[in-house]
Amino acid sequence: MPDEPSGSSPRAPRDPPVPSPCPPLSRPAGPEPAPGSAAPTATAASRRTPGADVSAPGTWEGWYRTGEDGWDKGAVAPPLARLAAEGVLAPCRLAVLGCGRGHDALHFARLGFDVTAVDFAETACREARSRAAASGLALTVLQRDVFTLAPAYEGTFDAVLEHTCFCAIDPSRRPDYARVVAALLRPRGLHFGLFFRPLEPGNPPFTTDEEEVRRLFRAGFELLRLEVPPDSFEPRRGRELLFVFRRREGLHRPADSGQGT
Ligand SMILES: C[S@@+](CC[C@H](N)C(=O)[O-])C[C@H]1O[C@@H](n2cnc3c(N)ncnc32)[C@H](O)[C@@H]1O
Repeated sequence: MPDEPSGSSPRAPRDPPVPSPCPPLSRPAGPEPAPGSAAPTATAASRRTPGADVSAPGTWEGWYRTGEDGWDKGAVAPPLARLAAEGVLAPCRLAVLGCGRGHDALHFARLGFDVTAVDFAETACREARSRAAASGLALTVLQRDVFTLAPAYEGTFDAVLEHTCFCAIDPSRRPDYARVVAALLRPRGLHFGLFFRPLEPGNPPFTTDEEEVRRLFRAGFELLRLEVPPDSFEPRRGRELLFVFRRREGLHRPADSGQGT
C-alpha cells in the first residue's frame, strides 16, 4: 500500500516549551510488580512466535490479523496524555513512530498537533486512517518502515513520540533507531514518550532500562526528564520510563552512536 499523506499543511518550526529540568528518577506510589507476575501484555507476547522476524512488516501484520496485539490498549497512554496536559510541548509537527491503530497520534491531533503517524503494518495504518476519518481529525499516516524515513523526512519534525516502537524493533537496531530519531528532528526538537521494561525475555516487547536509553541517546540528545510514571496502564505500572530528550544543536554524525562509551 502506498503512503497516503493527507491533512493539514506543515507549520513553521518553533521551539516547544522547555520542560522542567530532569528530576530524580522516582518510582510511583505503591509496590513494584512482583517479578514474574503475569500481565496481559506478557501473556499476549508469549503467544507470539518466539524468534519471529520483527523487522518484517508481515510479522506484525500477522499479529494484527490474528489478534495477537495485546499491546493495543485502545486509548492514549495516560502518561503521554498527562505530558500534553502539562503543556510540556505546544502543538507542533509531531511524528508518532510505530503508531499502531493511532490512539496516541489521534490524541495529539485532537489537541491541534500536526501529526504524521508511521507504521509498516497495513492493518494498523488502515485502522488509524479510518479512526481519524471517523473523528474528523487531520492525520497523515505513512505506511513505511521507520528506518527508511531519513533522508526524505530529515529535520521535518519538532517532536517525535515514542510508545512501544523502540521495544518492538530488533534490539541490535537500537543504535540505528536513535540515529533515525535524531535525523527526523530539527535541532532542539523533542523526543519524548515511554520506554518499556517488560519481564518476559526473548520476543517483543524487548526490554530496556535506564542505563541503555541514556547511553543510546546521549550522543544526539540532552536528557530533560526521566521518571517512572505513576499512571501507566495497570499491567505496565512500574515498568515504564517516561522521558523527554532534546535533540542537540549539532548534526548527529553516525560516529556518535554512543556505543561503547
Ligand atoms: C507493540 S506495537 C505498538 C503500537 C502502538 N504504538 C500502540 O501502543 O498501540 C509496535 C508497532 O510498531 C510497528 N513497527 C515495528 N517495527 C516497525 C518499523 N521498523 N517500522 C514501522 N513500524 C514498525 C508494528 O507494526 C506495530 O504496529
